[in-house]
Amino acid sequence: MAAEQSAAPRASGRIERARQSEARKLARRSFLRVSVFAGLALSTGAMAAGFLGFFNLRKPSGFGGTVNVAANRIPLPGAEPVRISEGKFWLVNLDGPEGDVLGVGGTGGLLALYWKCPHLGCSVPWLGGFNGAEVNFPGIVGWFRCPCHGSTYSRAGIRVFGPAPRPMDTMALSINSNGSVDVNTGAVTSGNNENPLRAVTYNG
Ligand code: FES
Repeated sequence: MAAEQSAAPRASGRIERARQSEARKLARRSFLRVSVFAGLALSTGAMAAGFLGFFNLRKPSGFGGTVNVAANRIPLPGAEPVRISEGKFWLVNLDGPEGDVLGVGGTGGLLALYWKCPHLGCSVPWLGGFNGAEVNFPGIVGWFRCPCHGSTYSRAGIRVFGPAPRPMDTMALSINSNGSVDVNTGAVTSGNNENPLRAVTYNG
């Protein structure tokens, strides 16, 4: 009888120890599981960030995306066009009907002209001293003129000479409240004689 009484507490002690050991194992397993999932989540996030960074998908900038032009780089009306290398365009600030050599009703403003020639793709430079008399527009000095086959364009990108099939293409442009300009170099519109009407009024 006395032996039975002392065996009972020993058995319950063993059960309690077994329970505690099982609880510790369970806690360890849960911890490992959480760690594995956390590790997977972190590496997946890092891979996604790397992918977006590699293909520049988060916020494309530079050519193909939006190029911001600070207010102090924007030409005054009638001043020489500014070459924006990072976006492959010329930023022109037309002074009234300037550049509207065909008289479609342009009233001036900012125009972003893609510098790729619509003929065979050469980069078109601005020639500030080129005299329009050579292309039947005497009195107008300063033209875009392609070095490859001579296509010649007004300040508004209107083709007046050479083999190019159309005027220079334009890029979408919007003005920010701080006076800077965003040019979406991924939004290119084929040039046509209405180019001067695409100019956006700019007041600084
Ligand atoms: S590529 Fe410009 S005129 Fe031919």
